[in-house]
Amino acid sequence: MAILVTGGAGFIGSHTCVELQQAGYDVVVYDNLSNASEKSLERVEAITGKPVKFYKGDILDRDRLNEVFEKEQLDSCIHFAGLKAVGESVQKPWEYYENNIAGTLTLVDVMRQHGCKNIIFSSSATVYGDPAEIPITENCPKGQCTNPYGWTKSMLEQILSDIQKADNEWNVVLLRYFNPIGAHQSGTMGENPNGIPNNLMPYITQVAVGKLQELGVFGNDYDTPDGTGVRDYIHVVDLAKGHVKALKKIEDNSGLSIYNLGTGVGYSVLDIVKNFEEATGVKIPYSIKPRRAGDIATCYSDATKAKEELGWEAQYGIKEMCADSWRWQKNNPNGYED
Ligand code: NAD
Ligand code: UFG
Repeated sequence: MAILVTGGAGFIGSHTCVELQQAGYDVVVYDNLSNASEKSLERVEAITGKPVKFYKGDILDRDRLNEVFEKEQLDSCIHFAGLKAVGESVQKPWEYYENNIAGTLTLVDVMRQHGCKNIIFSSSATVYGDPAEIPITENCPKGQCTNPYGWTKSMLEQILSDIQKADNEWNVVLLRYFNPIGAHQSGTMGENPNGIPNNLMPYITQVAVGKLQELGVFGNDYDTPDGTGVRDYIHVVDLAKGHVKALKKIEDNSGLSIYNLGTGVGYSVLDIVKNFEEATGVKIPYSIKPRRAGDIATCYSDATKAKEELGWEAQYGIKEMCADSWRWQKNNPNGYED
């Protein structure tokens, strides 16, 4: 039996393929390569020494999905495939709802027709909106999202929960990621954003490598220790390992479960700049800019539930996250395009 990994060529998916293979699972990747390169999968193979079965396809393409389920023995799916750019989702809401929601509905329908009723879904801390409590536990009420991307995560959580409620043969794990950064320690796999990065760490590494001039810090007047936004950054390898633990949970017929995947520690934008400089010896010039629309002041997790129920806890600290992000960027200034 194998694990279907939709979006498995992407940033988090490719790192998860490494951890799955190293834990002894066979993986089948399904990805339309809209935001990824197949080269990431060659890097996975180079690290693990095991082949990755790859199908190029879209989660909206029912026929192609059926073909994969007919050919492969699949018992669970880790569902990463989706569009994820917050700003773009405001410009193209229809495309985000179509791709993320209609795509997931199609995937889940094909899964149930083939008797595969185990799914781990990539959700996000964005579902908490402006969180009602800090640190954020899984009991914190979901909030108002500020963009269509966030709503797709919030709605898909509801949809998958309702499907599990109606048919208890389903096992659904909703994983709410905080801020994934870092890269594989080998320096051969990492985040590969298209164009100018929206997220903090890829922006910093592109300043460090000389592709961008300086970092803009979006606001220094938040109610935080130094006025800049505070987030819970988590190493992508730790995050990937969380999926392996979630699969074990599903093997016990867990029904519906929801976990935060974060470290439980918050760092400000300026903390990240300082830690990056200390970890790499590279100076990051920055200037203070206005707040970015839709940003909140503080967001970090209470990571206790995943520790107690999954036996998972983040191992890597901020210095390792910075050093690993930098190693990837320095060795691959153009991502997978080299
Ligand atoms: P990514 O863009 O690197 O990976 C997503 C993958 O899905 C890409 O390889 C893309 O080609 C593929 N894809 C997109 N639409 C598809 C479709 N219709 N059919 C088939 N494949 C499709 O992003 P990532 O950072 O690895 O994120 C993975 C998942 O985690 C996403 O669902 C994302 O929303 C979620 N998430 C990411 C973050 C983050 O900060 N990176 C935070 C919270 C949640
Ligand atoms: N920031 C800057 N300058 C930049 C980029 C970001 O100052 O050039 C700041 C932001 O204002 C924020 C912090 O750095 O305070 C982190 O910003 P990111 O864009 O890296 O991450 P976000 O917390 O805004 O959002 C990310 C993902 C979302 C996901 C969310 C979950 O992009 O998809 O984490 O917590 F939903």
